[in-house]
Amino acid sequence: MTLSQPLLFEIQVQRIFPKPFLKWAGGKSQLLEQLTPLLPKNFSRYGEPFTGSAAVYWHLFTLREKRSLLFTDARLTDSNTELINCYAVVRDNVNELIEKLSTHREKHDKEYYYHTRALKVQHLSSIDRAARFIYLNKTCFNGLYRVNRSGQFNVPMGSYKDPTIFDVEELKNASLALQDVSLDAVDFREILNWAQAGDFIYFDPPYAPFSKTSSFTSYTEKPFGEQEQKELAGIFRELDKRGCMVILSNSWVDTVLNLYKDFYCVEVKASRAINSKPERRGKISELVVTNYGP
Ligand SMILES: C[S@@+](CC[C@H](N)C(=O)[O-])C[C@H]1O[C@@H](n2cnc3c(N)ncnc32)[C@H](O)[C@@H]1O
Repeated sequence: MTLSQPLLFEIQVQRIFPKPFLKWAGGKSQLLEQLTPLLPKNFSRYGEPFTGSAAVYWHLFTLREKRSLLFTDARLTDSNTELINCYAVVRDNVNELIEKLSTHREKHDKEYYYHTRALKVQHLSSIDRAARFIYLNKTCFNGLYRVNRSGQFNVPMGSYKDPTIFDVEELKNASLALQDVSLDAVDFREILNWAQAGDFIYFDPPYAPFSKTSSFTSYTEKPFGEQEQKELAGIFRELDKRGCMVILSNSWVDTVLNLYKDFYCVEVKASRAINSKPERRGKISELVVTNYGP
């Protein structure tokens, strides 16, 4: 090497590609391919008021890692306090969480499941609550989240032979991807106190029922009914007026199509996972609404 030659260092940047580590009814992983062309190209802040397993946030993060998107801030919220506590612990204490999850994995059997389910979260530390939440999510029936009137989780154990309770790399990737994210356990209406012009907001509410008998809307103690769907449509309109870019997913049913008839309505196809009647578990039409056109 002569002195006149510049020194070149190759900087290896470790990219992170997070994905959902929870099972969640209505999780959007299977719709990402259809949602991607509808995403706004340019925004600086992202807000997701019905976060669930955060499939869309992990996807946006991945697009940013690949330099296909640029955004600086993200805020994930959901009314499920255990879910948001879980994300906060993944963000702030992932190593301790992994230790607690290893204990759950070692002890898992029917008796241990029901013992853990019966624990009162008010008596547990936030890390214990998060570990319990992930453990129950991965071992309960279909990954459902359902609580009784007093807020106690009441889903029976699933019949998995050897459930994968956690994956260390998955949790560590999620932790890195959450480092600059703000997390709040709040109702969707609270988005009005945060959103400003230029933000991108994605709404993925509990879906309006396909029929009077097919409703699966109980993620939390409070039901999400017609009144909530109407209020959400009002918030969509208000955010549109403010200059936000908004996307909403919902069922392809007349009541919802009427609420969003002034916006761009796109039909997408999804496999329905939650239906008690096997003959109704095929590809179904779902609605994606945007306020900014193709
Ligand atoms: C369809 S799921 C969201 C799924 C998510 N997009 C995913 O990919 O997993 C709906 C979410 O809304 C939350 N939720 C229900 N009622 C709510 C309310 N009033 N305010 C905020 N979140 C609510 C539930 O806890 C649930 O996580």
